[in-house]
Amino acid sequence: MSFPTIRVFDSPGPAVRELAREVGELIRSRAAVGRQAVLGLATGNTPRPFYQELGRLHREEGLSFANVISFNLDEYLGLADAHPESYRSFMHRELFEHIDLPAQNINLLSGSLPEADIPAHCAAYESSIRAAGGLDFQLLGIGSNGHIGFNEPGSSKDSRTRLIHLDRLTRRDAAASFGGLDQVPSQAITMGCGTILEARRIALLVWSEKKAAIVRDAIRGPVTNQVCASFLQEHPNTEFYLDREAAAAL
Ligand code: F6R
Repeated sequence: MSFPTIRVFDSPGPAVRELAREVGELIRSRAAVGRQAVLGLATGNTPRPFYQELGRLHREEGLSFANVISFNLDEYLGLADAHPESYRSFMHRELFEHIDLPAQNINLLSGSLPEADIPAHCAAYESSIRAAGGLDFQLLGIGSNGHIGFNEPGSSKDSRTRLIHLDRLTRRDAAASFGGLDQVPSQAITMGCGTILEARRIALLVWSEKKAAIVRDAIRGPVTNQVCASFLQEHPNTEFYLDREAAAAL
C-alpha cells in the first residue's frame, strides 16, 4: 500500500504558502482555457492561515477566483445561518469577503433546514458536485478522533453527504468557542467519506502537538472506520501538510 505523501514544515506559514501557490496555479491554468476550478473547503482553526494566504494572493498578486466553484464540507445543524459559529459565517468572515468568488458559485450546506428536508438537501449537494465535474481539490483538517469533515468514527468509506450525530470528543473540542458544551449542536450535515475520497487531489493540514497521536494513527495505523482519516491511505493523490509538532509521533 502506498502511504500518502507527508510534508513536514517548521511552521504553518511556509506550508500554506506552498499550498496556496498550488491552488492558485490550478485556478489560473483553468482560467487560461476558459474552465472552472472546483474547490472543496474546510472550516476550523487549521485552515485560517491558508485562507489568509489566498486573500493575500488575491490582493497583492491579482489572483482572481471568478472561475472557482466552492463546496464546503459540513455545517452544524440547528444554527441560524448568521450565527457567528455557523460554518457559513466562518467562510464569509475568513475567506469569501476577501476574494472575488462569485456568490452564485459558493455552495454551503444549510444547518437551518427542518430535518425532513435534509435528505433532499444532501442529495442536491451531491448532484451539484457532480454537475460541476467533481472536486478538483479538497482541503481537510482532522478532528481529535480522526474525523474528516464530520465523518465521526463508524462512518463508512463509501458514505455520502448526510445528517450525522456529533461525537462526544468533537462536541467537547467545540465547547469553548460555543461558550459551553451544552451550547454545541449535537448534529451536523457533512459530505461523506466517499464524497471526499472522490476528490482528485486532497491536502490535509495539521498544526498542533495535540493532534500528533491521531495523525500517526491516520497515516501509520490500520485503515479503519474508527479513524476516518485513515481512508486517505488508499487515496492516490493525498498530501499531509504538517508542522513539526503535528509530525512528532510519526
Ligand atoms: C471542518 C471540518 C473538521 C475540522 C476538524 C479540525 O470543516 O470538517 O473536520 O477540519 O475538526 O478542526 P480544527 O481545524 O478547528 O482543529
